[in-house]
Amino acid sequence: NRQKRIRNFSIIAHIDHGKSTLADRILESTSALTKREMRAQMLDAMDLERERGITIKLNAVQLTYKAQDGEEYIFHLIDTPGHVDFSYEVSRSLAACEGALLIVDAAQGIEAQTLANVYLALENDLEIIPVINKIDLPSAEPERVKQEVEDVIGLDASEAVLTSAKSGLGIEDVLEAIVEKVPAPTGDPDAPLKALIFDSLYDPYRGVVTYIRIIDGTVKVGDHIKMMATGKSFEVNEIGVFTPKPVAKDELTVGDVGYLTAAIKNVSDTRVGDTITSAAHPTAEPLPGYRRMNPMVFCGLYPIDSNDYNDLREALERLELNDSSLQYEAETSEALGFGFRCGFLGLLHMEIIQERIEREFGIDLITTAPSVIYKVEMANGETIEIDNPSKMPEGKMIENVEEPYVKASVMTPNDYVGAVMELCQNKRGEFIDMVYLDENRVNVIYHIPLSEIVYDFFDHLKSNTKGYASLDYELIGYKPSKLVKMDILLNGEKIDALSIIVHRDFAYPRGKAIVEKLKELIPRQQFEVPIQAALGQKIVARSTIKALRKNVLAKCYGGDISRKRKLLEKQKEGKKRMKTVGKVDVPQEAFMAVLRLD
Ligand code: GTP
Repeated sequence: NRQKRIRNFSIIAHIDHGKSTLADRILESTSALTKREMRAQMLDAMDLERERGITIKLNAVQLTYKAQDGEEYIFHLIDTPGHVDFSYEVSRSLAACEGALLIVDAAQGIEAQTLANVYLALENDLEIIPVINKIDLPSAEPERVKQEVEDVIGLDASEAVLTSAKSGLGIEDVLEAIVEKVPAPTGDPDAPLKALIFDSLYDPYRGVVTYIRIIDGTVKVGDHIKMMATGKSFEVNEIGVFTPKPVAKDELTVGDVGYLTAAIKNVSDTRVGDTITSAAHPTAEPLPGYRRMNPMVFCGLYPIDSNDYNDLREALERLELNDSSLQYEAETSEALGFGFRCGFLGLLHMEIIQERIEREFGIDLITTAPSVIYKVEMANGETIEIDNPSKMPEGKMIENVEEPYVKASVMTPNDYVGAVMELCQNKRGEFIDMVYLDENRVNVIYHIPLSEIVYDFFDHLKSNTKGYASLDYELIGYKPSKLVKMDILLNGEKIDALSIIVHRDFAYPRGKAIVEKLKELIPRQQFEVPIQAALGQKIVARSTIKALRKNVLAKCYGGDISRKRKLLEKQKEGKKRMKTVGKVDVPQEAFMAVLRLD
């Protein structure tokens, strides 16, 4: 019976513990292809795609493995995104599996994302196989790490597989462990169709391609299907599996992992986590755990050249096709003109999108400092949500402001506990708990405002612990805070794009730090530019950018021509990232100044 020979699994790990390398080794020993050949094939596929092929992502590959028991097994290796911003998507990818390989670096031991991923795997009832990797390293301590896996995670590590993904040692043991330990899928092939969408992408020729795992029933080409969360119905055009080449099939049945297309125009009709069922004979209950992803971090995106506005809109439309968690709406700033307010899952997501707009669409952007969503209870009883600091109402109209908090868990060597706690304290954190992982490593838990994490927490954490600490966090809800809006004035003019929300107790030092930073970042102009930070009408900090000395180029006249050219080029470079606000030229970095305070 085929179902008994299916094994669906993911690989989970803290960053750099060797996930990609191990996946490579598994691919090499179970398919005829190495990853490099797979890449070449993907490129071919992309060429093909121009004619009629299907776009593929390497995140659900079907492999065959002839085990020592003589049977041939069907493996589906399902990839998971590696970052905390995408933890819901990680969770849905895991929900498509019965097991997970948990890779732990034999020299480093358990890190914050190791634990975070383990929790997600446990929530999804996965069989977890510990794999202690990099045992070839001189500093490897597999026995200590095994002990840590037992003590901290509570898994039986006696049968942990020891590997060197680099040299290929232990890979056979990993494959055998998958066969032995990962349970076969248990669904009912005769029940109504129930399939989990764990990823999707937009293909210009076929519409949305959904990546699915069949839990119950069977799906065939021509079937009428329904998305249970969105209620939309479609007719199936094509189904298949990735080997990693897309291979069309007539049907997918219980335990199978593959793709499905149905002339779906809009990725938001195929939300990750949604359940696909039969339109005619729907299953009674959707799969549990579906949740809509809401953006947590917002910023303004403005074209430097206002002629690029329509191109920017098109770029956002295109990116949204592939990313239903990206949100945007038109917004106008007095300082920056026409642009968009965009919502992201987190900072990494934000950086990826900005980068893609600049690289793939060639639009130079001014981005404003990221903000979270504040809940503001107004004196008139109304509650509003603010995702743009400049929209915060006047203090006297406000009854109460709440901000999102996260539970942050920082794993650090003992020596840096003091530094970590000091940082958390400075970021308005509330100490919750401290757990020793072993005699040398500690998990420190704080509740911290998300806005502080969004600013520069991670950079400080890394520099204060020489890179040894790791961070994971999750949203825990809203708490009231004494928050106020601080406006920044340049040359006496309020610049809406520079407004920020600050805690009242930190307003003065922060105001001072910001005006000093802006003084550093904004180049001298032909005239003197005062910079002020204000709470309402009250100026709380001030500095001044001195006027430019007469003619920088004067010195070069008669001198070295190439030096002069260099200077001009430098000024041009600088210009590219400048926005003229009022009469003042303000560089991109200035809008991010609040993130760069020391
Ligand atoms: P991300 O993809 O960035 O999340 O990292 P990853 O977990 O996939 O790790 P990756 O496979 O990229 O490996 C990280 C580094 O560790 C690379 O430089 C690998 O060459 C190295 N590495 C992986 N496995 C081993 C191993 O068994 N031994 C040694 N010495 N190095 C290894």
